[in-house]
Amino acid sequence: MKYLFRALLIIPLAFVALLVGFNIWGALTLGTLTPAASTPRDMTANRVVMVMGATGSVGDGLLQAAIEAPEVEKIHVITRRTSPRIDAGVASGKVHMHLHTDFTDYSAFSDILGEVNTVLWALGTSSLQVDDATYTWIHVDFPLAFVKAWLAARNHGPMAFHNVTGMGTNPDGEQYWAREKGRAEDTITSLARGTGLRNFSYRSGWISPPADRSNPVIEFFVALLTPGHLVIPGPELGRAMLEISVRTQELPNGTVIDNADSIAYAKVYRPGS
Ligand SMILES: NC(=O)c1ccc[n+]([C@@H]2O[C@H](COP(=O)([O-])OP(=O)(O)OC[C@H]3O[C@@H](n4cnc5c(N)ncnc54)[C@H](OP(=O)(O)O)[C@@H]3O)[C@@H](O)[C@H]2O)c1
Repeated sequence: MKYLFRALLIIPLAFVALLVGFNIWGALTLGTLTPAASTPRDMTANRVVMVMGATGSVGDGLLQAAIEAPEVEKIHVITRRTSPRIDAGVASGKVHMHLHTDFTDYSAFSDILGEVNTVLWALGTSSLQVDDATYTWIHVDFPLAFVKAWLAARNHGPMAFHNVTGMGTNPDGEQYWAREKGRAEDTITSLARGTGLRNFSYRSGWISPPADRSNPVIEFFVALLTPGHLVIPGPELGRAMLEISVRTQELPNGTVIDNADSIAYAKVYRPGS
């Protein structure tokens, strides 16, 4: 009984200590970029947007941001299946859904790719769900095949590739997933060099779902992680991406954007201006 009582006390205390420590770490280390107060903004940079992984938790939020953005005229979604938000977007006429199965082959989409300005890439999975070869196939082979096909169809700016890789991504990291996502980041930056494309890698913390897919438990954990800039709602991340796209002369190809940076760019997002 005495041990049970101690365990009941220690577990919540350990949780609180971990939470406080993580928030302090985030508040002290995250946030390396400051949005310029005054910078040229090319609103045509988001005229045609493509969302990949739009049926997922993160992609759904990015799609919401693009649908709500008045400066986005058209959205292409290449996907294996539809979702309520894709269906609503298609019904409104703004979203064009293209059902597809082989995400290493985009030869059928060269006309579409030729008009795309901004890509929001949230296609991926957890390393716990697939073996190493499949992880590489999804997180390296898929985006690399896409970027090569995109650059073959179009090579003049404005073009921006926004890739949600995640906190902990590191080409020299100890974990397989971190190295592979880091390799994808670096290779896409190399492919983009000398073209009109800028590649941005989002090493985000927790990307919470849009309000219409959230619930009180999710919002409770969002509140716990907010002080350390460890969480960003998906639509806010999407707005940060759109803002970075229009600031065509601000961040160079290859910029890595942490969670606090995304929050900062989402705050300065100005729709349709
Ligand atoms: N969630 C977070 O807080 C968070 C934070 C940082 C980074 N990330 C990264 O963001 C990415 C997306 O995460 P998520 O949480 O949104 O995952 P999710 O909810 O599982 O969604 C994954 C998306 O990728 C698509 N996809 C997965 N495997 C595929 C395959 N083999 N072929 C075609 N499409 C495939 C899914 O399509 P279907 O619907 O057809 O399966 C879905 O649209 C991952 O790389 C993840 O590591 C997520």
